[in-house]
Amino acid sequence: MDSLIIHGGTRLDGALRASGSKNAALPILAATLLTEESCALQRVPLLKDITTMMTLLSSLGATVLRNKEGAVVVESGPVQVCKAPYDLVKTMRASILVLGPLLARYGLAEVSFPGGCAIGSRPVDLHIRVLEAMGADVQVEEGYIVARAPDGLVGVDFTFDTVTVGGTENAVMAASLARGTSVLRNVAREPEIIDLVEFLRSMGAQIVGEGTDTLTVHGVAALQGATYSVMPDRIEAGTYLVAAAATRGRVRVEGIAPEILGVVCDKLRQTGACITEGEDWIALDMQGNRPRAVDVVTEPYPGFPTDMQAQFTALNTIAEGTSRVTETVFENRLMQAHEMKRMGAEILIDGDSAQITGRPSLQGAPVMASDLRASASLVIAGLVASGETRIDRIYHIDRGYENIEGNLQCLGADIRRIST
Ligand code: EPZ
Repeated sequence: MDSLIIHGGTRLDGALRASGSKNAALPILAATLLTEESCALQRVPLLKDITTMMTLLSSLGATVLRNKEGAVVVESGPVQVCKAPYDLVKTMRASILVLGPLLARYGLAEVSFPGGCAIGSRPVDLHIRVLEAMGADVQVEEGYIVARAPDGLVGVDFTFDTVTVGGTENAVMAASLARGTSVLRNVAREPEIIDLVEFLRSMGAQIVGEGTDTLTVHGVAALQGATYSVMPDRIEAGTYLVAAAATRGRVRVEGIAPEILGVVCDKLRQTGACITEGEDWIALDMQGNRPRAVDVVTEPYPGFPTDMQAQFTALNTIAEGTSRVTETVFENRLMQAHEMKRMGAEILIDGDSAQITGRPSLQGAPVMASDLRASASLVIAGLVASGETRIDRIYHIDRGYENIEGNLQCLGADIRRIST
């Protein structure tokens, strides 16, 4: 297994280009199952989770390759198998996103029941409920979700009890090939949902309302292949901006429209960061100042993203003042706090909140990654800590960050990967 070794204390300074969004690319890859024709996807990031999704599509019988220009080309012809196996699903929960497309296209889908993960139980009850509302018979058989709709799916007027990104994605993909119209209410509004809808529309889907809390989908008989470029990764970009703020440095992230970072930029300004923006770039400069502590409460988009919570927790540990970080989306997403306390951070966990007292610095220590964004927050903590920090189990990081040590080295960080 690999580890990262960081010697902290360097102010980040430089520029990098945002990768394609993992959380947009995953549902878009799943959506290629909705057509027999070829789809070519540009700006698909080189990540473990993407490789897992490509392997899953291949296991279903699709032809999947990355061409010499780096685009991922999927030809999912009539797939031979409608079953997403346990050994793949257990490594990536987003495998559940093939449920809707397989069911809509073939009338049958078997997906290993995704277990919980470090950040919470992460049920899929709403994914199942909306497909049942569209006429599917869904059973759990020997650890697999088995969904059947031999006569096809029917449009439905459905309201989600909880805002769910994945549930919205499965629903809109399934509704695209259902008979009649679906009105999906209380849906997720994330930019990644908008990207998926724009991809589906490029395949011939008839959808309106993306970015609002209601999606209206007029089902069509068939969808065509398409060429599409995935949106940039706002969480990756936000992570580097927070790392620059924590180290009192400056960074320019290119290839991303600032508006999709939404409240994250506002929150960074509250730390005292000087933010400048262009059409497709955003720059942060701390001008050498220590960041001010900021309170954070996570919410579904357009609220503060849960995927940025751990990074701001790390910033707050060395910021000026006290702060409160409250996680409302997942039930167990403050675990990074325990590892940061081993680095000298002053954090009190109180239910779904962390009360943080900023310290002038942290001390490097051996720490262990637990999930994707917690791992990224430990990297930030290592960048600001004195001495050496060693982060084990960094396969968590490789799921969502392309070449993180290379990017940080370009920004001046003393960081390297070792294999143990
Ligand atoms: C997506 O996960 C993202 N993953 C997550 O990013 C992100 O944290 C999350 O959305 C919230 O923004 C991908 O896009 C691949 P949810 P998802 O369904 O779809 C509850 C990362 O770091 N819920 O919106 O699984 C659930 O328990 C990852 O890149 C139900 O109760 O999240 C949670 O409390 C981590 N029943 C809340 O909804 C359901 O059927 C939000 O979950 C589904 C969800």
